[in-house]
Amino acid sequence: MRDLGLSNKRVVVTGAAGGLGRAFARAFADAGAKVLAADLDGRGASETARLIIERGGAAQGAEADVTIAESCRALVQAAEAFMGGLDILVNNAAVFAGLERRPFAEIDEAVWDKVMAVNVKGVWQMTRAAAPALRAAGGGAIVNVSSATVFSGSPQWMHYVASKGAVIAMTRSMARELGDDRIRVNVLAPGFTLTEASLAMMENARSYGVERGALKRAAEVEDIVGGALYLASPLADYVTGQTLIVDGGRQFI
Ligand SMILES: NC(=O)c1ccc[n+]([C@@H]2O[C@H](COP(=O)([O-])OP(=O)(O)OC[C@H]3O[C@@H](n4cnc5c(N)ncnc54)[C@H](OP(=O)(O)O)[C@@H]3O)[C@@H](O)[C@H]2O)c1
Repeated sequence: MRDLGLSNKRVVVTGAAGGLGRAFARAFADAGAKVLAADLDGRGASETARLIIERGGAAQGAEADVTIAESCRALVQAAEAFMGGLDILVNNAAVFAGLERRPFAEIDEAVWDKVMAVNVKGVWQMTRAAAPALRAAGGGAIVNVSSATVFSGSPQWMHYVASKGAVIAMTRSMARELGDDRIRVNVLAPGFTLTEASLAMMENARSYGVERGALKRAAEVEDIVGGALYLASPLADYVTGQTLIVDGGRQFI
């Protein structure tokens, strides 16, 4: 791989026990970064770190709940202890696996609240915990993981779509507030991607929506990670507040 300028960068990836989070963690490590892989599932996060170390990379796992301010602060302290600071935050944790599709009028209120707590408040909590460390590093990059469903208006999933729309809105606001600190904030919006979570959610996952994409094939996690690497790297030094859709050409905005 060409040098992306990510060597020795200090990266925290949330929701990194599997799926896209694990793939992001692995991709940053393969690009030479040090990675703290965090998840509600601490064992899964440690397994991600183990897999990276097995490939010769530098990583550690951590248990963290992004909805709890103290847990986010502890994660940043763990990053400082393990890596000596923080340069890049990937806000990937979300309620996604197992989320039922339902008409908007029938969404359970407790599920609505949980989706908002993790997918919206979690991004805020984690980013405000990380901002001082990014500032102390002289600047950095934040990649917020949204979803292309925001642009398709995916039906029967209004809570999820709304939460991921909020991620885009928050990113724009945070990009303006953090620009003076040389902290860039961008969104990666993947289209439907084959992960453990999405494969379990639908029987026809491998063919789902494929005909609607210009590239006519399903996305593997490897198709998505390049977008996160780009947004976090010096190649995107003049890019902030933006949304990069990586979906094989299903949505054009
Ligand atoms: N796969 C797709 O088709 C697709 C498409 C567009 C966008 N995305 C987005 O990409 C990201 C990853 O998706 P994925 O397919 O890899 O799904 P996933 O396996 O459900 O990934 C989400 C991860 O976040 C963790 N998490 C949930 N609540 C948390 C909390 N409070 N604190 C910390 N971690 C928490 C989950 O842990 P537990 O499993 O222990 O709850 C899980 O490991 C998500 O933001 C998702 O919305 C996915």
